[in-house]
Amino acid sequence: MPRQIAFACDHAAFHVKDTLIKMITSAGEDIEVNYLGPTTGDSVDYPDFAAAVCAKVASGEAEKGILVCGTGVGMSIAANKVNGIRAALCHDHVTTVLTRQHNNANVLCMGERVSGLEVIQDMIQTFLNTPFSDEARHIRRIEKVTALEKQE
Ligand code: RB5
Repeated sequence: MPRQIAFACDHAAFHVKDTLIKMITSAGEDIEVNYLGPTTGDSVDYPDFAAAVCAKVASGEAEKGILVCGTGVGMSIAANKVNGIRAALCHDHVTTVLTRQHNNANVLCMGERVSGLEVIQDMIQTFLNTPFSDEARHIRRIEKVTALEKQE
């Protein structure tokens, strides 16, 4: 069974979406990308695409999600509204490693207008290949984050 990775962007990253799909596919042995749009470069609303990816991750249909907009900010704000989602906005290698190890982030958000493709490729590889460090203190903190979802 291949690893399912849900991916979407908005118009800001649409022109590089095929490159991003290739980067995700080649980040590991047996990765299948579920591209959730958009299908044209017309202006779209990033929350619609964050919602589509996060639904797949929250339901378990996808192991992880990747979202790219202009800055990554809008996607990350929207993604973190969805129960079960721990979305990390990353710009560099170290943050990407640590958000997997410490936060068990399940969605990676990036900005096409702020990060170069080489850095984006490294962040994708790192995000998909760095395991959660399941130490008690990290588990406890994630459980506290999850408890915040239930306070609504
Ligand atoms: C679209 O112009 C831009 O606002 C969007 O891609 C993203 O950067 C929002 O946070």
